[in-house]
Amino acid sequence: MDAAVNLVRENFRFPVDLLREAIEKHHPAITLACSFQAEDIVVLDMMHRLQPYTKVFALDTGRLHDETYDVAEQIRCRYGDIVEWYFPDKDAVQKLLGAKGLFSFRDSVENRVECCFIRKVEPLKRALKGMTAWVTGLRKEQSATRTQVAQIEVDKGNGGILKYNPLIEWTTQEVWAYVREHRLPYNKLYERGFTQIGCSPCTTPVFPGEDLRAGRWRWEQPEHKECGLHKDGSGI
Ligand code: ADX
Ligand code: SF4
Repeated sequence: MDAAVNLVRENFRFPVDLLREAIEKHHPAITLACSFQAEDIVVLDMMHRLQPYTKVFALDTGRLHDETYDVAEQIRCRYGDIVEWYFPDKDAVQKLLGAKGLFSFRDSVENRVECCFIRKVEPLKRALKGMTAWVTGLRKEQSATRTQVAQIEVDKGNGGILKYNPLIEWTTQEVWAYVREHRLPYNKLYERGFTQIGCSPCTTPVFPGEDLRAGRWRWEQPEHKECGLHKDGSGI
């Protein structure tokens, strides 16, 4: 590892050490946000080894890929029925579709943020009810919007609870090394050029040389490419 990487990692805690402390401090009021991307499966595996009753939730937006459900099922077979699913409010979805149709997110950033709010952000708030901390698979390398994210944050947008991002400094190579070493299930879309996997209509594969988030909301500028799950955090 070169000097620059070491410098960046000066305050970095090993993910398992951080998770052990987080679980000791917060369990059972701590939960992992799992999108079934490789990062989340890595963190899920680490947490499960530390505390098999660790809470995990997934936000089913109603627009996920079949391949994502395939991984979810493999997780269920391997770890048991540990994932709690959250769904969008039915009336809010009905109202949105009635007023703007099924693909309003393509028309403007505002419409896209509205859809993300209904399908992700509002259900997230329900998933975090009663929790004092949550855990994500966020990494700095994922996008220009994530370079300032800290390993532990106060999540002001969600009542000031703590947010742990254990893999924040990890590289893509480190994530996949862990997946291979522990033979973890992974989303087969990665084998078709996808580098990040969100909702089906808003995610495309990435071409060589493009950044990791290029396939998300491809029609939007990089600075807009956040759905609202991860904002208002400040590092501690
Ligand atoms: S997003 O904000 O653009 O949707 P991204 O797909 O990069 O997020 O994933 C970053 C982290 O957010 C994941 O590692 C996971 O912790 C959480 N996350 C994203 N989507 C979901 C989801 N559908 N269910 C649960 N957690 C999610
Ligand atoms: Fe809606 Fe696309 Fe956001 Fe999914 S990613 S909630 S389909 S706008």
